Amino acid sequence: MSGKTMLHMEDVYVSYQDRQKRENLILNDIDFKVSEGEFITVVGPSGCGKSTLLRLILGAERPTRGKVLLDDREIETPDRHRGIVFQKYSLFPHLTVLENIVFGLNARDPSLLRRFWRPFRFRERRARHLDEARSYLDRIGLAGSAHKFPHELSGGMRQRVAIAQSLIMKPRILLMDEPFGALDHATRMEMQLFILEQWEAHGMTIFFVTHDLEEACFLGSRVVVLSQYYQTDAGPGQGAKIVGDLAVPGAHPKPTDFLYSPEMGQLVARIREEGLDPDYLQHIRDFNLTHRDAFRTVNEREWKQDACEKPA
Ligand SMILES: Nc1ncnc2c1ncn2[C@@H]1O[C@H](COP(=O)(O)OP(=O)(O)OP(=O)(O)O)[C@@H](O)[C@H]1O
Ligand SMILES: [Mg+2]
Repeated sequence: MSGKTMLHMEDVYVSYQDRQKRENLILNDIDFKVSEGEFITVVGPSGCGKSTLLRLILGAERPTRGKVLLDDREIETPDRHRGIVFQKYSLFPHLTVLENIVFGLNARDPSLLRRFWRPFRFRERRARHLDEARSYLDRIGLAGSAHKFPHELSGGMRQRVAIAQSLIMKPRILLMDEPFGALDHATRMEMQLFILEQWEAHGMTIFFVTHDLEEACFLGSRVVVLSQYYQTDAGPGQGAKIVGDLAVPGAHPKPTDFLYSPEMGQLVARIREEGLDPDYLQHIRDFNLTHRDAFRTVNEREWKQDACEKPA
């Protein structure tokens, strides 16, 4: 890990209007910095805004207020430096595994012009893309399934293809929204090891959203806990804040023994209480923001007013 800041979220608010045109605050003053190569897992209660956070980093959505900066420049639209994998529907159902993997590389070509202007070069490039896609298929252990369609694959195989489809574009940031949520326990464990291998091999920065706290603590070098369950001096908070931003202790990646260790149990219990328990309202002054890149830009006055704060 280089330690150089790559992504920077500063005073980020997201609110949506409901049918009565009332502002509904979803993300409330999100701050953090990320270094190149971190493996960040994001957990939080259902509906707190985890997918919204990923969409901001992808560039599919702009914050209502605040900044999402990549290398000091605001993210405005999705581009090939950021890939995303969902729980389902990341693949094109009408394309084979090989075609799915090669799709992004081919889509990058200004193809129509090149096809007619320099047909030989065009075919050469397409052949190179196919070779590259086959080598990714090999790496994910699916060389024998190149000509199958997604519906002919198991859930785990489909997610491997979806990950390869993103990785072939060599993204700096890979966003994963509950990618293993629909898999059975054994396949899920296998996929956890698979993504750690890919992270080690490619060195990209990962944001991985999960509902499974064990998965979050096992996979991540850093766990970000987003929650609407907290309080300020003025009462219960509105919109989700980062209530925990912590480094998972020990080396990364973890040996599988860590899953059964007392440290893991304690960490999970603490995150569950502070982030996911609606009856446990931690004061914003006590948030566990101990990761070296965690920060908050509020002062004492804002702490007191926070519950009433609305994005401008
Ligand atoms: N485009 C939108 N318009 C209005 N409300 C939205 C929109 N997108 C998300 N929301 C609302 O924002 C909140 C956060 O949604 P989001 O999908 O980010 O949560 P989440 O943490 O990913 O939830 P889950 O754990 O269920 O996946 C939800 O209350 C959702 O209804
Ligand atoms: Mg979601």
